[in-house]
Amino acid sequence: MTDSGNFDAAWLPDAAFRAVGARRSLVRGGPDPLKDTVRAELVGVCARFGGEVVRDGDAAELVLDLTGEDSSDEGYTLERRDGVTTVTASGGRGLLYGLFHVVRLGEGAFAGDLASRTHRPALATRMLDHWDNVAVHPVMGQVERGYAGGSLFWADGVARGDLARVRAYGRLLAACGINAVAVNNVNVHATEARLLTDRIGDVAAIAGALRPYGVRTHLSVSFAAPILLGGLPTADPLDPAVRAWWAATTARVYEAVPDFGGYVVKADSEGQPGPFAYGRSHADGANMLAAALEPHGGTVHWRAFVYDHRQDWRDRSTDRARAAYDHFTPLDGEFADNAVLQVKHGPMDFQVREPVSPLIGAMPDTRLAVELQVTQEYTGQQKHACWLGPMWSEVLRFRPDGEVPAGRLADGLVAVPNAGDDRFWTGHPLAQANLYTFGRLAWDPAADPRSVLDEWIALTHPGSPGRLAEGLHAVLDGSWGTYEKYTAPLGVGFMVQPGHHYGPSVDGYEYSPWGTYHFADRDGVGVDRSVATGTGYAGQYAEPWAKLYESPGTCPDELLLFFHHVPYGHVLHSGKTVIQHIYDTHFEGVEEAEEARRVWAGLANLVEPERHARVAERFEEQLRSAREWRDQINSYFLRKSGVPDAHGRTIH
Ligand code: GCU
Repeated sequence: MTDSGNFDAAWLPDAAFRAVGARRSLVRGGPDPLKDTVRAELVGVCARFGGEVVRDGDAAELVLDLTGEDSSDEGYTLERRDGVTTVTASGGRGLLYGLFHVVRLGEGAFAGDLASRTHRPALATRMLDHWDNVAVHPVMGQVERGYAGGSLFWADGVARGDLARVRAYGRLLAACGINAVAVNNVNVHATEARLLTDRIGDVAAIAGALRPYGVRTHLSVSFAAPILLGGLPTADPLDPAVRAWWAATTARVYEAVPDFGGYVVKADSEGQPGPFAYGRSHADGANMLAAALEPHGGTVHWRAFVYDHRQDWRDRSTDRARAAYDHFTPLDGEFADNAVLQVKHGPMDFQVREPVSPLIGAMPDTRLAVELQVTQEYTGQQKHACWLGPMWSEVLRFRPDGEVPAGRLADGLVAVPNAGDDRFWTGHPLAQANLYTFGRLAWDPAADPRSVLDEWIALTHPGSPGRLAEGLHAVLDGSWGTYEKYTAPLGVGFMVQPGHHYGPSVDGYEYSPWGTYHFADRDGVGVDRSVATGTGYAGQYAEPWAKLYESPGTCPDELLLFFHHVPYGHVLHSGKTVIQHIYDTHFEGVEEAEEARRVWAGLANLVEPERHARVAERFEEQLRSAREWRDQINSYFLRKSGVPDAHGRTIH
């Protein structure tokens, strides 16, 4: 559906509102700006589908009732009785989320009775961290790791003049439950640093466009801002002048953006400044910003992505996977109440397969946000179809202590999004499903990702026949597994081309300062992270995991090479040797990609032509790339190991 001017309607085409728009609706309560948003939504769709927004006292089939002013309450109660569907909420956001729930139900919201049920997000913060630069960066471009064109927020070095698209973005985000956005890159360059001070007006403009959809604006800031912008000689977090500068600067931010969400900080990470330069801890750093934000109700999201990026491959004792846990667990209990430690879901860096970070669950006295990557940096860069719902769901359901799922230990889920100013928002139209799925899993980490995909399919293609839904499931359900099969095997990761990270290069990073990842030699492959003979990383987990990962005999196949260095002849639980597994999965991965392309071609008459063509073109590239991966990985390991393929296939 492309009925919204010059950009795609994604999961909110007008037709998705058909059932709601055909009814007599009443919006009650307030005053509240989000109630006005709800009302405006209904007026718009009623004009299209023949319904009407009636006045209080008139009969209505849909009633949206705002009963209070509690903006922190995002919940709503939905029921249908005596022919009337009612959404009741005590805050404007809840009312808006309730409306979108009714939209998802479609005609189902207006048939029979619905028992009264209250819905509330499991996680209070559902945030996107845009890695957008205001100015185009010479190496990274405008959006760091962006595969969907330029920034939605910034153009020509300033906030976009026409913010209609930003508003539309806020609407899409609200419809999947996202309530916060950081509008600039975590790597804060010179122009972007100034968003905090003399360029705060730009941020206020964006905040104004997102606010009607309940999305709060956050900012990535440089830890060195007092030096860069304030002219101070230091950024020491315990220096009174530095603290006073942050307090005064933050107060001015709130004058410009009264509902500002807070700061995101990447400190002492990949060259960004941080408290280590002053001999201070990361709790000292985070707490200084927390203190500046506290009087205004703001939060600091402090990233735990701290590791040594100047390693030597000959040094086998330094293990990047250990770093976050080693740095942060000694600080448990020291962070302020409005400081949240933001932890990447895996210990490395958004690879196609990683174990869940052992830091998740290891700091019970520290607020936690889990960070995911929706932008497909290491998962095909939105040229490959790779639906990440099942991966994220695995992470969120993982029970770090054997009992409580990770999704319940966090109070925030954060992602690096995949949207840009591309006509289809996400470059690959099917990558829209990733953004939608992220939002819905942040609302309910226990949700079944397949049902979320069903929702996305039904909203995006309303009224389409079951054959389309079947086809989309066939193409997307297993796409993460397919991608894993033709790329780096068994959890080893990082066999990508350095810099841009697209396409295979088995040794691309192996001898670089960023870390060492596979240790392949003529006898075997994998990284020994056991306690007994390796880096000790496996011991960072609580039981039952520490014991399970410690031994190659119990370690799950898919993570074997992450935790162990084994001979090529090592037999997996699957019954195959490691080397045969590598060959087989790489042939299978390409076959699966071929099959997905075939299924997609068969959907041509069910999908609007431009969308179909865009996806079809991306499948060509996916296949080319998958074959390249297969051939490079298989020939590398054939040459290293000297072990032939048991099935005698040609390995290029
Ligand atoms: C990855 C990515 C970088 C990014 C970093 C981060 O390493 O390649 O571009 O800056 O993650 O999360 O900060």
